[in-house]
Formats: sequence, structure tokens, C-alpha cells
Amino acid sequence: MDRRSFLKVCTTVALTSPPLLYGVLRAGESEFKPYKKALLVNKDGKPVTPEEIKPSKEYIFFYPYRSTPCLLINLGRRADPVEVETKDGHTYLWRGGVGPDRSIVAFSAICTHQLSHPTPSTTFINYYPEGKKAKIAKRDLVIQCCAHMSAFDPAKGGKVIEGPAPFPLTAIVLSYEQGKIYALGTLGKEVYEDFFDVFKPDLRKLYGSSRKARELVDVCTVLEMEEYTEEIVRC
Ligand code: FES
Repeated sequence: MDRRSFLKVCTTVALTSPPLLYGVLRAGESEFKPYKKALLVNKDGKPVTPEEIKPSKEYIFFYPYRSTPCLLINLGRRADPVEVETKDGHTYLWRGGVGPDRSIVAFSAICTHQLSHPTPSTTFINYYPEGKKAKIAKRDLVIQCCAHMSAFDPAKGGKVIEGPAPFPLTAIVLSYEQGKIYALGTLGKEVYEDFFDVFKPDLRKLYGSSRKARELVDVCTVLEMEEYTEEIVRC
């Protein structure tokens, strides 16, 4: 099978069911990486207020590229900075939550195991708010990927608490300035290059071209997950 055919098989499988076929991820840098400063807005184009982000819901926005999905979460409680340790022994400081209660956090919604991520048709990776227990992690307040059962702790910098994911979810660094929420960059290892490589045909279909899929954004529209995707797979 040539490379083009292989990638086609991978992307078809990954977008329609849990991805099973491809192997080793390339890991990026673990330190803070600034991107364009981007304002988070609601569907009306107005800045999202912390009050609009309900602790009982999960939200999606796209950052730092127009095609790379992120989860926006109000934990309903303060999230303090914490040192995140990766399996290779590297550590970095996650900055904690933002907003008046320091409870609002964001992470890339691209699973660090095999890149499962929300699409318009389905999502296997989701946040389980308070009272909605995830079966694998056996707890709530957790991000779980049902593709191969990895779980991540959004109150602890996205660290891995279960499953095969090799490193934490990439954290999106937020700031809260005069009532507005901004995304500033990322923290932790990134998987964007793998994402663009593996899902190239699908991204072309969704965004018109690879170049457009890689456009950096300075405004991000926040949607409830159920407004973005047809099927939310929970486990
Ligand atoms: S893609 Fe395998 S656990 Fe998420």
C-alpha cells in the first residue's frame, strides 16, 4: 500500500470510528508556545462571559488553527496551577483556571493517543461534568476518550489518569482581561503536525485546502458540543 492509500484508510477509519491503524506519534515541545491572541466569542459574535460557560456543559472552539478543536470547560471550582509530569519525566507548570473563580480551563480536543477528535458527525472525546460519571475513569470532572479509553484530568493540567495516551492533552493557555476571555497559546506537547498529516484529505474537504485548515485564528466562536457534532459517544 502506498503512502497516499495508507493515509486514506487511516483517515476514513479515524473519522467514522475509533482509530486503530497507525502507530507512533511525533511529540512536539513541552513549553509554552504563543500563537495569535484570540478572543473567545459566542454565536452572536459577542465576547463570551464566564457566566455563559455552564459547569454542566462542554463547549468546543477551534484554536490555534481554524481546524484544531479544543474543549472549553467550567470546572465549577477553582483550578490551581500544578506541575504536570509526562511519562518521559519532563515537567512543566500548568497555569490553572481563569475567570473570576479561576474555574475556566481549555485543552486541545485531539487525543494524544491516536488523534481521535470531534468532527461534525461524531466525537469520542468528551468532558464529563459533575454528576456524569465516566465509566472507565470511574469519576466525573474528567475528559475521556472512548476510542481506546484514555482519561485526562482537566483540573490537573490535562494529565493522563487512565489508558494508552502517552502524554497529557495539550493545554490551551487562556487569559481573562476586563471580562473577556482570550486564548494565548499552548502548553505541553502538541500533535498538530500529525493531525494535519493524517487527516489531510478530510481537512481539505472541510476547509477547502490544507492551507486554509492551517490558518491561525484571532477570534474563536464557542459552541456547545451538541451544537457542533451529531453524535456524542460516551463510555
Ligand atoms: S485515540 Fe486512542 S484513546 Fe484516544
